[in-house]
Amino acid sequence: MPKIYRVIVIGMGKRGLHHATFFKANPRFDLIGISSRDAMRLQNALSKLGNVPSSGDARSLALSARPDIFCFCTPPAVRFDMLKLGIECGAKLIAFEKPGALTSAELFAMRDLIRTAGVKGVVSHQHRYGVHYRKVKEIIASGMLGHVHTAYGTATGWMTHMLSHLIDYTCWFNNYAPATWVMAQAAGRTKFTDSHPSPDYIGGFVQFSNGVRGIYECGAGAPDQPEVAKWWGKNRMGAQGTEGFAEVLTNGGWRAVTKSGGYQSGEGAMNYDLDMPPYIQEMADWLDDNAKVHPCNFDHTCMGAEIMLALQRSAAEGGQVGLPLTAGADEQAMLRARVPDRPVFVSSEQNRKEFGLG
Ligand SMILES: NC(=O)c1ccc[n+]([C@@H]2O[C@H](COP(=O)([O-])OP(=O)(O)OC[C@H]3O[C@@H](n4cnc5c(N)ncnc54)[C@H](O)[C@@H]3O)[C@@H](O)[C@H]2O)c1
Repeated sequence: MPKIYRVIVIGMGKRGLHHATFFKANPRFDLIGISSRDAMRLQNALSKLGNVPSSGDARSLALSARPDIFCFCTPPAVRFDMLKLGIECGAKLIAFEKPGALTSAELFAMRDLIRTAGVKGVVSHQHRYGVHYRKVKEIIASGMLGHVHTAYGTATGWMTHMLSHLIDYTCWFNNYAPATWVMAQAAGRTKFTDSHPSPDYIGGFVQFSNGVRGIYECGAGAPDQPEVAKWWGKNRMGAQGTEGFAEVLTNGGWRAVTKSGGYQSGEGAMNYDLDMPPYIQEMADWLDDNAKVHPCNFDHTCMGAEIMLALQRSAAEGGQVGLPLTAGADEQAMLRARVPDRPVFVSSEQNRKEFGLG
């Protein structure tokens, strides 16, 4: 009989409910508790999940339940204390949401906690399970693009929502080669007060150690993808080589041109119902067998988060920023202090609306 892992999920917003639902649906897990500070959300979750123990107090739930998996799905500003609670309650695996952390100071403190405790960390960059993402990875890995020299990602959604997705999937395309330096610019201040605090637009370059150049743009100034209707799905990630390119659109399938294959394309759209089950299953696989490391492991997230935070430091301070970062800092404060107080130029009228710019 395979072991059944006991899980609690904290935070019953959109993503907490997704996680709880898919843990509950998988026989390898026993959902032994859910928690939300917000009584309405907890009630709503219980009406969908049925009979699951629940509490408004995450701490008492975690310490009494002592789960194998501690999962928290909270806003980006709520990370370190949740991670600490996950470790304190004895969980073997802690699953949480992107972005990894808002600042490098917090990221490094989290990394220290995870390493010292020897727990497994998994972060929800689950778009990668989409058939269109996997197809692009397969084409790049097949060598059909010749010598790959460039990886790129753009999203019109703002930085703290979208940039970690762009970086994680393109790092996957690039076999997680480490980055050695970055350089970036940022503009616009309207989203600094959002729950996902961000400059309205950030764009930058990344040098990877294998010679691949990364190019990223996120926010109001990033190019529209007119072929994609859903605004949050206007994300384009891909790679170019000497013999072609392959790219995925989050809500618009995939396409490639290669020397031997000509033009090819296919369907695919980000879908929680399809992406969450394998993401959840691979947590059991990793707990069963240390060799089956989850592809969304915390080390991968850390690598992407360092790139993302170094881009922010460069945007705030100017010039190139070397990686790995040697000390933690508060990149949010750095950006707030330095991003000019001038409105961002938008790339489309829809972006103007989404950024509340009239
Ligand atoms: N991976 C993805 O595809 C994806 C998609 C959307 C959102 N997200 C991420 O998921 C996270 C949560 O987003 P969401 O859309 O579920 O948000 P949400 O606002 O719907 O839910 C957040 C939950 O956290 C709870 N919460 C807030 N502060 C708390 C605190 N201090 N302690 C305990 N609980 C607290 C809220 O009560 C709520 O239940 C964010 O980091 C977001 O970026 C990821």
